[in-house]
Amino acid sequence: MKKVLLIGIGAGNPDYVTIQAVKALNEADVFFFLDKGEEKEDLANLRRTVCERYIEDKSYRIVEVPGPVRDPGAPDYKSGVHAWHREKAQIFSSLIADELKDGEVGAFLVWGDPSLYDSTLRVIDQILAQGALAFEYEIIPGITAVQALAAEHKIALNPIGEPVHITTGRRLLEGLPDKVDTAVVMLDNGSGLRALIDEDVEIFWGAYLGTPDQILISGKLTDCVDAIQTARTEERERKGWIMDTYLLRRTPR
Ligand SMILES: C[S@@+](CC[C@H](N)C(=O)[O-])C[C@H]1O[C@@H](n2cnc3c(N)ncnc32)[C@H](O)[C@@H]1O
Repeated sequence: MKKVLLIGIGAGNPDYVTIQAVKALNEADVFFFLDKGEEKEDLANLRRTVCERYIEDKSYRIVEVPGPVRDPGAPDYKSGVHAWHREKAQIFSSLIADELKDGEVGAFLVWGDPSLYDSTLRVIDQILAQGALAFEYEIIPGITAVQALAAEHKIALNPIGEPVHITTGRRLLEGLPDKVDTAVVMLDNGSGLRALIDEDVEIFWGAYLGTPDQILISGKLTDCVDAIQTARTEERERKGWIMDTYLLRRTPR
């Protein structure tokens, strides 16, 4: 039987890799890297660093293939994502069928943790549901950008006994659910930053968390938003891509 490992490698710092992930890395014969376009070099480099640093037997193989790109012109966001996942399922199926021998272990190194805004797990489930390929799989959790943000700002995510809402910049524009005063925002192109600008809100913002380029800004949203937007624009120009996550907290009512 073939085996596939989805290994969470943490959200940017090779030191985030857990002991469980190190054991899993050392079990794998083949690593599948999907080329991700503009961010690709930095992200692929972190994956390579993780392999080089933590794997003892250097006879492992890396198979790198171009990743599909989500069609921004799809009729709506979700149908675009579903089509993108179908394309990924075809690529993953070919990799598992052609590059992994019976009894071998293949691994996908997942940024952060596989359970949070990542398609790898859904794609693997889709392949197994199709029934054409048989393999077992395991998931190794990793440190998410949300945990990295909280640690770097030295904050607890939740006010005592209160919920925390995790959402995207796009969904934040629709407002927060009733009685929710704390939100963590990911996958924002910058448009969500001003969604709650008219309210009394604190922001804890982090870009490139856990990496040498990390930037942290915190304070009242109204006071910080311009500095954050300037940093976003400048960093995006400098590096060609940006990854940021932030927590918004309404002042208790
Ligand atoms: C596709 S999601 C992947 C999330 C990942 N699975 C995790 O567990 O953190 C990408 C989003 O995660 C956030 N992110 C990931 N790594 C980050 C980092 N090092 N610094 C800041 N935000 C990060 C950003 O909001 C980015 O848009």
